[in-house]
Amino acid sequence: MGNQNVKHKVTKAIIPAAGLGTRFLPATKAMPKEMLTVVNKPIIQYAVEEGYAAGIREFIIITGRGKAVMENHFDHPYELADTLQKRGKMAELEAVTNVLPSDARLYYTRQGQPLGLGHAVHCASAITQDEPFAVILPDDIICTGTENPLAEMVKMYEETGTSSVLVEEVPMEKTANYGILDVSGAVENRRAPAKGFVEKPKPEEAPSNLSVIGRYVLSPRHMHHLATATPGKGGEIQLTDAMHKVAQEEGFYGFVSQSKRFDCGDKVGFQMANLYFAMQDPFIAPRLQPFLLQQADQFDRRQTKR
Ligand code: UTP
Repeated sequence: MGNQNVKHKVTKAIIPAAGLGTRFLPATKAMPKEMLTVVNKPIIQYAVEEGYAAGIREFIIITGRGKAVMENHFDHPYELADTLQKRGKMAELEAVTNVLPSDARLYYTRQGQPLGLGHAVHCASAITQDEPFAVILPDDIICTGTENPLAEMVKMYEETGTSSVLVEEVPMEKTANYGILDVSGAVENRRAPAKGFVEKPKPEEAPSNLSVIGRYVLSPRHMHHLATATPGKGGEIQLTDAMHKVAQEEGFYGFVSQSKRFDCGDKVGFQMANLYFAMQDPFIAPRLQPFLLQQADQFDRRQTKR
């Protein structure tokens, strides 16, 4: 039993950050999308903070271009810290030195070519070896005010040894826009047992309305399938293909999210995230609100004139 627990402990998270970020060009021409800021933090920092709060202590960041800028962000900035200290800027000093808790470890590994999410995840296999691991897609910012779904998924893996993915209910008529969970039983305790995944099914063919979002806790078996995977849709190695195989071999859970989520890989979701977090900030909110109301009013007038 003791060994069992050791085997199921989830201590590592893979954060893929090697995509091209084409939806944000030209901003992402020289800078990774994951360094775009929501208010005053790059989106990758939200991902690390969420993983840390879920008990993860080792983060494997899969980089493409702009690796140095991510390393610098999480590094201790000696010169900057020294200057801020001398100038008595203590709040700013804290902001730059507390980016990463002291017991968190970061590893960086390069994905030579952006050959897909499955390929990016497999780039971490030498580090995860035969351990289970979490995957955090930094594009998705999950608000973890009341609960941290990744923490629940880690707990679930440690109890059952079964992989899981976070899922969200979408309107049935929109299933063709998403990766959908192929459920094999009723949802109980927010756990939806699954026998696989269906990519963008038409509503009449969709096995559920539970769409996959960017948080995963995966068994070591996934790395085996990714090692031998051949490119699927769009010439890319798909993580979902490996998950589908594992679901049939070992079972799988969708964990139904109740958290607010922003898709920061998309320009609209990214702006919403900025406004949401800005409106949570006691300094910014009262200053921003009159401007937002005024903009909304002007937008209404333009619409009625048309
Ligand atoms: P996306 O498909 O949303 O990212 O991948 P993208 O390809 O960078 O975005 P667009 O569509 O061109 O704007 C989800 C996550 O997986 C990573 C991305 O960096 C992002 O965090 N990813 C994707 C990789 O690390 N490698 C890949 O080959 C593909």
